[in-house]
Amino acid sequence: MGHDHGNGQGQGQGYGAGHGHGAAHRHGHGHGHGGDMDWAAMGAMLERYARVAAPLYGQVADWLKRWAPAPGVVADVGSGPGAVSFLLAEAFPKARIVAADPEDALLEQARERAEREGLADRFGTARAALPDDIDGVPAADLLWLCKSLHHVGDQAGALTALAGRLAPGGTMALLEGGLGSRYLPRDIGIGRPGLLSRLEAADEEWFTGMRTSLDGSKDTPEDWPALLAGAGLRYTATRSFLLDLPAPLSEDARAHVVQEFTRRREMHADRLAPDDLTTLDRLLDEQDPQSLHRRADLFVLTAQTVHVAVKDA
Ligand SMILES: C[S@@+](CC[C@H](N)C(=O)[O-])C[C@H]1O[C@@H](n2cnc3c(N)ncnc32)[C@H](O)[C@@H]1O
Repeated sequence: MGHDHGNGQGQGQGYGAGHGHGAAHRHGHGHGHGGDMDWAAMGAMLERYARVAAPLYGQVADWLKRWAPAPGVVADVGSGPGAVSFLLAEAFPKARIVAADPEDALLEQARERAEREGLADRFGTARAALPDDIDGVPAADLLWLCKSLHHVGDQAGALTALAGRLAPGGTMALLEGGLGSRYLPRDIGIGRPGLLSRLEAADEEWFTGMRTSLDGSKDTPEDWPALLAGAGLRYTATRSFLLDLPAPLSEDARAHVVQEFTRRREMHADRLAPDDLTTLDRLLDEQDPQSLHRRADLFVLTAQTVHVAVKDA
């Protein structure tokens, strides 16, 4: 694929749940192939984040109904295993849902889940890779892109191509950006206060490198409303949604936080100061009383931003 298959989304820009590689990876890094990706682990991670963030996605779907009250076809482009596609299937019970992604292994997970949940009659998948290889994306009344566009080198070109797949009167919703996620207080009793801010700075640096290394990478300012308008759509609205899970966390949410710290420990070994790496090691050590596995003060607080544009009928 020649892309980073960053499974998740991430931080500062609201990328969050398992951006990049890290623990979903079998060996090493290297943007590009996916030959060494552990798709099962990545799929499970994305599924878990969608469960943890389901209250946020529920609000997003309700808000999207202003423009798409009864879409016939909803396409989730860059769907991964369809974790969020299934939430859309719930929010739009009469719609046909199509999960589209370059990765067959992830689409296979989506198909298996649709079968398991008795949704196969109105849930399909399509292999599609932005910006050019999108013939499989059906003409959609609602096109949903959730933290997938930033994996594409030419984001403006991708939006323009996708706008062509939108039915007249259709709605495009783009989830990109927001606020970095917070999981711990400023002072956690070990290490130097402010660890989360430093992790976020490392995330930003990593993200910039990730974008630069993408095939056909273009240095496009991330003015999403302008990019949507540039794709020939009528930019309509932007709203940010809060995910606010106070302590004590559910086991799922705690596992998500552990995952997020695990991947940062792997990805940022060269970006973080030695004392912060030591703190991360303690946080990840299940035997340590200060470990993320045991702490009572873990929470999840983040915001994700959605931009909406419509195609005039
Ligand atoms: C961060 S994951 C998000 C998955 C899903 N949207 C979610 O929120 O759970 C990014 C997804 O974008 C997909 N992706 C990467 N490059 C892509 C491209 N060129 N076109 C479409 N999707 C792509 C990846 O395979 C991955 O499934």
